Amino acid sequence: MKMYSSSASSLRWTGFFLIFTTFCCLFTPVVMVKHENFKTCDQSGFCKRNRAYADTATQLSPGWTSPYNLDPNSITFKDGQLSGTILKSVGTAGETVRLPLTVTFLESGTARVTVDEEKRQKGDIVLRHDSKAKKERYNEASKWAIVGGLKVSTGAALSRETEAGSTRVHYGSSGQHEAVIQHSPFTIEFKRDGETQVKFNDRGFMNIEHWRPKIDKPVPENNEGEERAPEKVKEETDEDESTWWDESFGGNTDSKPRGPEAVALDISFPGYEHVYGIPEHASGMSLKETRGGDGNYNEPYRLYNADVFEYELDSPMTLYGAIPLMQAHRKGSTVGVFWLNAAETWIDVIKSKASTNPLSLGVKSAVDTQTHWISESGLLDVFVLLGPTPKDITQKYGELTGFTAMPQQFAIAYHQCRWNYVTDEDVMDVDRKFDKHKIPYDVIWLDIEYTDGKKYFSWDPLSFPNPKKMHNQLDKRDRKLVAIIDPHIKNTDKYPVVEELKSKSLAVKNKEGNDYEGWCWPGSSYWIDCFNPASIAWWKTLFKYDAFKGTGPNTFIWNDMNEPSVFNGPETTMPKDNLHYGNWEHRDVHNINGMTFHNATYEALLERKKGEIRRPFVLTRSFYAGSQRLGAMWTGDNLAEWSHLAASIPMILNQGISGFPFAGADVGGFFGNPSKELLTRWYQAGTFYPFFRGHAHIDTRRREPYVPGAPYTDIITQALRLRYQLLPAWYTAFHEASIAGSPIIRPNFYVHPDDEKGFAIDDQLYIGSTGLLAKPVVTEGADSVSVYLADDQPYYDYFDYTLYSGAGHHTVKAPLDKIPLLMQGGHIIPRRDRPRRSSGLMKWDPFTLIVVLDSAGNAEGTLYVDDGETFEYQQGAYIHRRFQFDKATKALTSINIGESGAKTAAWHKTMAKVRVEKVIIVGALDEWSGKTEVVVSEEGAKESARRKKVGFTYHPAQSGRAAWAVVRDPKVGIGKGWKVDFS
Ligand code: GLC
Repeated sequence: MKMYSSSASSLRWTGFFLIFTTFCCLFTPVVMVKHENFKTCDQSGFCKRNRAYADTATQLSPGWTSPYNLDPNSITFKDGQLSGTILKSVGTAGETVRLPLTVTFLESGTARVTVDEEKRQKGDIVLRHDSKAKKERYNEASKWAIVGGLKVSTGAALSRETEAGSTRVHYGSSGQHEAVIQHSPFTIEFKRDGETQVKFNDRGFMNIEHWRPKIDKPVPENNEGEERAPEKVKEETDEDESTWWDESFGGNTDSKPRGPEAVALDISFPGYEHVYGIPEHASGMSLKETRGGDGNYNEPYRLYNADVFEYELDSPMTLYGAIPLMQAHRKGSTVGVFWLNAAETWIDVIKSKASTNPLSLGVKSAVDTQTHWISESGLLDVFVLLGPTPKDITQKYGELTGFTAMPQQFAIAYHQCRWNYVTDEDVMDVDRKFDKHKIPYDVIWLDIEYTDGKKYFSWDPLSFPNPKKMHNQLDKRDRKLVAIIDPHIKNTDKYPVVEELKSKSLAVKNKEGNDYEGWCWPGSSYWIDCFNPASIAWWKTLFKYDAFKGTGPNTFIWNDMNEPSVFNGPETTMPKDNLHYGNWEHRDVHNINGMTFHNATYEALLERKKGEIRRPFVLTRSFYAGSQRLGAMWTGDNLAEWSHLAASIPMILNQGISGFPFAGADVGGFFGNPSKELLTRWYQAGTFYPFFRGHAHIDTRRREPYVPGAPYTDIITQALRLRYQLLPAWYTAFHEASIAGSPIIRPNFYVHPDDEKGFAIDDQLYIGSTGLLAKPVVTEGADSVSVYLADDQPYYDYFDYTLYSGAGHHTVKAPLDKIPLLMQGGHIIPRRDRPRRSSGLMKWDPFTLIVVLDSAGNAEGTLYVDDGETFEYQQGAYIHRRFQFDKATKALTSINIGESGAKTAAWHKTMAKVRVEKVIIVGALDEWSGKTEVVVSEEGAKESARRKKVGFTYHPAQSGRAAWAVVRDPKVGIGKGWKVDFS
């Protein structure tokens, strides 16, 4: 009986449990990336072959010799460029494959190593399956990625100290760089000031898969007399040829008309423990090892732009974009490599005990990082940047691939998006609600449902009958609308866009040379091929105001799905044997594809109306090296989970140090419904994303900032106001990015390159060079965070001036209504304190300067202001000031660091009435207690106002808070030279 009852109750519990878990499964979204849709290295023929090659080399080491030898008789050196032929030994009969090598030494101190293959270069190969593909290795990646920095060094010279078996070249601005090229086997060491920083082929993994004809072998029969599957046939060579000639995955077969053609190389960084970069991955900023072991990955980092549904965190899996730039960092040195290849790429990372001279320990790390780069096709084309600082890497990489485009002012304010605002009335209603709740925002977004049946450049006639009215309402508060336009063009009747695409033959082609058809949002679709200049020219016509009716000067564009995402394609993208303009195979150009579409839209927005030239704003999901010239990116379809909030910070930091800093993540999380706490914390974090947009999936509940109610709405509003208040500082940071390639939010190592303890820190950030240090709260229920301070400067709480000092970790209180934000001593931060409904309405508002004194009592900072809209700044129409507080003279001064000229003068005139309305000094000097006025002088002021006295209030330090002081309304012009005398 007892047994019965107990088992009955246990049955009851089991039943309840089953129902409960089924219920949970029904209602908690089970979110998990579908691993089976994406290849592992093992499932990607060329990756597997090259890893196996590396394993053989390692296992046979030291007996292993790389078969690549530079023919000494082929070497020539002219005009900063070394040329020669690498001979790859194949087979046993002394046969060799000729691989032309060039090493170009650039004026910037960067070296570029390019290896091609003579036979393919000359087109001396036979394509299989009657393919129309180009025979050469893809050599146009630089056409898309590189915009400058290629000036060849005039000082580069062959070294006079010659050694048998190697060639040395001195280069760099004062000859401090040296490339030591060993002939047999071929290796290169790049040295700076006599020390090796980067080594090529040190481990012998270099592998250029040369062209060879397919030798069809008789297919043996098995016992039952049936033919065995060809891939099971063991070839006579030791090499595994099963994926040389075709390769199947997920029901799709890639025909590989050119056979195996991978390029691979090992690149070592002796004495470097940390490597960063190679976005986009949902992983930490300091890259992990990838060949197994505790806490390491088992897979290489992959770069193969893809629409990865419900991507997982802490993973080397590929995502939507690719920037093949890696930097290695140690105390005193940063170096970088930029692997210019647009094909599918895998990168293994291994760290090992350093083999370096023990005497140099202490300077170098005791760890070497070794990397192995493997691309499916194309040239081997690598740039080596020798630093020595993180700033030099971002600057020099930016000179090559371009700097961040100076955005419109509105683009760095807050964007409100969801999939979807369902009618034009809905848009206007949301707009009104923001105003009603006094919440600032600049841009509202329309996702795919605004279109008439997913036909881009059209409006759904029922739900968006009056787009003009909607735009006009937004324009009243200087607000903008962003509409989505994707690269797939619906295959349907009576749609002029698809008709033109086809009749003009501007679509991507399949391997037979016919328009490639696949599935995306509209169902059956074609894809515009933006590698084709004629496609760009046509694309431009579609954005003219009279072509895309209902749009106007306040409409901007969102480009999504441009990896490209193809729902029924292999790995959710296009078949690799598809053909693009010039008959390049998709395989060769895949990672650049998204950028070409982004580029076409950028170009189109420049020409919407004759005589009206405004800075375009185009958001992209897919990107490549160079995309920073065209707009912003975001990290795609994240989840409304704390872990995704946390992951956004290192991902965006990584974008910043990889040359594409205008980056953000969907605030609130795309899939799922965030709790009110998570939503609030996400807004607080989002205020530090260079691109700040709330977005949500179509199945989620509404969550605009006014939705959650008290106290959340107020707290979110405060976060948004903080963003708006600091827009002058953000805009100045964008300006720095646009002229020097510097990240907009910066990780610890970038700001404090010698602080070893901070090299792996990727959960806190600095805004530009303002000294503002934020540590977003990314955990549930937190009421404090631990902020890491790298130096002994005083750091002050942004809101109440609580003082933190001493290198190391500090606990900073962070209840829900508090954003952990500190100011590092030594900076002057410009801001605008008047709450407004949009950034456009702040144009003529006065400025406040926060002078944050360092331990020596000094501070400085800069401010950049232009019209936030046109390209006039390129002719000098801007204000650029340096503010300085000098303890010795006890004066705060404003100094011009901009240009002079007609356009500058005109802009200054426009801004003549914009003044500084307040100066706050944090860490105010004791001697000021009791002071009630300071003396202000301004250039060009009338005699009577030349030395005017203005009010001053001093607040003594108390309970952990620093002393601070306020100069009340000095009324000095923001564009003028002036001085506030505190003596
Ligand atoms: C993709 C985008 C997402 C967008 C959706 C519909 O999933 O990443 O942001 O809302 O497509 O267009």
